Amino acid sequence: MEVSEIHIPDNEHYRELMKFIEENRETPGPLIQVLHKAQEIFGYLPVEVQYFVAREMNVSYSKVYGVVTFYNFFRTEPIGDHIINVCLGTACHVKGAQEIIKALIKELGLKVGGTTKDRFFTLSTARCFGACGLAPVMLIDNEVYGRLNPQKAVQIMQQFKRENQGN
Ligand code: FES
Repeated sequence: MEVSEIHIPDNEHYRELMKFIEENRETPGPLIQVLHKAQEIFGYLPVEVQYFVAREMNVSYSKVYGVVTFYNFFRTEPIGDHIINVCLGTACHVKGAQEIIKALIKELGLKVGGTTKDRFFTLSTARCFGACGLAPVMLIDNEVYGRLNPQKAVQIMQQFKRENQGN
């Protein structure tokens, strides 16, 4: 697809991004700033938004794509309203973290980094939350859940969903 071929909907998000681009065109390093702003507005950087930025910034799509894929703070997939982070640090690994992540992958039908269709959960992993005494550990948003086993992790996830759906 050529940058010029892309159909951009005329909506409030694109108008906000356009305004930011116009205000920041002359500042140093504008592409990264514009992509940050786009991610703030859209929540992630779908391909249409990357094309839009390329067109409006007058740079190639491959340049935008290169920046988006180089920096790991840019996301090309939407994230859920709640993030499950399973610790894969050493203490948690020794106590069975792999079994916990496998159980959640199976139950949610996702890969690590994936988001449920209803955008409720994103499943992620991390290295050590500093709660090794409670290993194995997972976080849902900022809440720490420790001394898990696969069954307990799935139950906590399901209960969290029941309690927070619609909030
Ligand atoms: S290794 Fe998991 S909390 Fe430290």
